[in-house]
Amino acid sequence: MNLAVRDTALREIMDDPHCDPERLDATLRRFGAVNRLVSGWGHVYRRRLRPHLAALGRPARVLDLGSGGGDVVARLAALAHRDGLRVEWLGADPDPRALAAAERLATANVRFRCADSATLLAEGETFDAVVSNHVLHHLTHDELQRFTAESLALSTGPVLHGDIARDRVAYGLYAVGITPLAPGTFLRTDGLRSIRRSYRADELQRALDGHGGPGDGDRAGWHVENHPPFRLLAHATGHA
Ligand SMILES: C[S@@+](CC[C@H](N)C(=O)[O-])C[C@H]1O[C@@H](n2cnc3c(N)ncnc32)[C@H](O)[C@@H]1O
Repeated sequence: MNLAVRDTALREIMDDPHCDPERLDATLRRFGAVNRLVSGWGHVYRRRLRPHLAALGRPARVLDLGSGGGDVVARLAALAHRDGLRVEWLGADPDPRALAAAERLATANVRFRCADSATLLAEGETFDAVVSNHVLHHLTHDELQRFTAESLALSTGPVLHGDIARDRVAYGLYAVGITPLAPGTFLRTDGLRSIRRSYRADELQRALDGHGGPGDGDRAGWHVENHPPFRLLAHATGHA
């Protein structure tokens, strides 16, 4: 498998609006287990989100953009609740199939909406922080510029986009490790395609530099960190 360059021609099955709805639902529901194993949000929460939310000294609002099956925002909500932080969480995703899977995780302080970043922005919504998981590598070049610019315009505080790093070892380990969770889902095919579509840290930094928003240039101030073994975190401060 040649992972030297991003394979941007590959599309994931779940991005096809006509894919098998039962397998898609099973995939979205099983993301919880996969994300818990690979996505590293416990670390990002402790290092970047918790300190900001705690310092506010008031109830906060946090947005998960592209929330999919909803497990990442539900997990962040559980971590914050355990720490005694008062936070209203919103998971937003324009795909109604994702919303249907996520709604089972809704609680009094975790809500889900069928909406994309542009819609929330047009409504004048703002949040104390914006996060996303595994969204960036799905997007085309232009979609990436819009999505990241909109995420900055929606946040008065940190903007944290977590994603997979393209890596040969990650590819091999995922191919083997996903086997018990994969039956009846797109997890195997889409996970491997995701890794092939994903960025390396320097590529994502270049893609984000100079594209903070219309005329914003590199003042958007994105920093892309490698979180070993196989994670990237793009972070910046919002300007809502
Ligand atoms: C692979 S899924 C990731 C789901 C979830 N975050 C996870 O980690 O399992 C990417 C999601 O991003 C959503 N998305 C794409 N563009 C978006 C935008 N502009 N605003 C909000 N969500 C978007 C898609 O609908 C899709 O459900």
